[in-house]
Amino acid sequence: MKPVRVLTGITTSGTPHLGNYVGAIRPTVRASRLAGVESFYFLADYHALIKTGGDPARVQRSTLEIAATWLACGLDPEKVTFYRQSDIPEIPELTWMLTCVTGKGLLNRAHAYKAAVDKNTEAGSEPDDGVSAGLFMYPVLMAADILMFNAHQVPVGRDQIQHIEMARDMASSFNHLYGEHFTLPEAVIEEHVATLPGLDGRKMSKSYDNTIPLFAPREQLKKLIMGIVTDSRAPGEPKATEGSALFQLFQAFASAEETAAMAQAFADGIGWGEAKQRLFERLDQEIAPMRAVYDELIQDPARIEQTLKMGAAKARDIATPFTQRLRHAVGLRALDARPEAQGAVAKAARTALPVFKQYREKDGLFYFKLTDAKGALLLQSRGFAAPREAAQAMARLQQEGSVALDAMAQHLIAPEDVQRVTLALTALRESAT
Ligand code: TRP
Repeated sequence: MKPVRVLTGITTSGTPHLGNYVGAIRPTVRASRLAGVESFYFLADYHALIKTGGDPARVQRSTLEIAATWLACGLDPEKVTFYRQSDIPEIPELTWMLTCVTGKGLLNRAHAYKAAVDKNTEAGSEPDDGVSAGLFMYPVLMAADILMFNAHQVPVGRDQIQHIEMARDMASSFNHLYGEHFTLPEAVIEEHVATLPGLDGRKMSKSYDNTIPLFAPREQLKKLIMGIVTDSRAPGEPKATEGSALFQLFQAFASAEETAAMAQAFADGIGWGEAKQRLFERLDQEIAPMRAVYDELIQDPARIEQTLKMGAAKARDIATPFTQRLRHAVGLRALDARPEAQGAVAKAARTALPVFKQYREKDGLFYFKLTDAKGALLLQSRGFAAPREAAQAMARLQQEGSVALDAMAQHLIAPEDVQRVTLALTALRESAT
């Protein structure tokens, strides 16, 4: 059986904390050891430039820390392909090829971009104030990361689902134009990993400044744990586990029996100081051996560099020939190369084009619809009073493609599969040019 290809990227901005460990690093390292999977993990340092632009030392430091963290947590660079995005020059090359099959309208709808625009609008500023083209293009770079290796599964947080959907859109558009080169990836969401509370009880997150660094030195770890918020119940008073950040942190590291024992201690009125001490001991028990490896690794950047270079070589064994194939497919090829194969693909795509039809219903109104080559309905207009109105709306869709979908929403009834509608419109437009 062909192995399942799993791929995920880690943006190299910031220092890994306990929340990252429990939510991403620990489950991912475990999954990477399973048989029947082929894993690709990479440090998304091109993505880091978007958030951390103007702070080169931070990008470098964070890349070192994150690489050391994953290795210290048990990622085996011999078994998985572990590399740095910027060591793969084929990624920005593919980004451009994908950029050219991506509707600008699709990117307009990206959550991160839209949030920035909404914020500006609310503040009364220009919509694109402070928005770099890098932020706007973020989903395309991410799609290139994924499609380059034809990953089947992409484990991500909920906030990234839309990006995976966009990668699928771009893959379909490209495949449609140039033949079946890309696998359509799927997002994999870890449903049952707990989100960890931070020092103040809210979700542990850099943006709340409430994190506990995964590899804080022992003494600092202890100090941070002693600072976790609790209620004011005195020793001897029973304490609620429900809603206790301390208890949730403990649970994320302890076995079921240890957790039950802690719950009992809460009911028996353990003092907060004592409970924090137990949490610290339990955390440190799991972290200390990894911390020792981490401290050693971080002292030896050259060794990590070498590991990443080895990973890049493995990744490029795939990326280089694949990119060569893609270049040929889009027409970036030696002038004496024979163009036939490509022509056949384009012709096949063209003969299977969707079609627009305009018609009049018994209600006296004028309608149009879009069907695929086999006649299945993709899109249906509402009734227009005059045939010219229907024709104009139809022409607009033909000319502008899927970009016009939002603006024309009140005139249209799209059967559930918006992605197919988008692709069909893109295909029609491409064939017209
Ligand atoms: N955008 C992802 C995040 O912030 C990181 C990332 C970059 C990524 N490229 C990727 C994740 C490709 C999965 C696949 O979490």
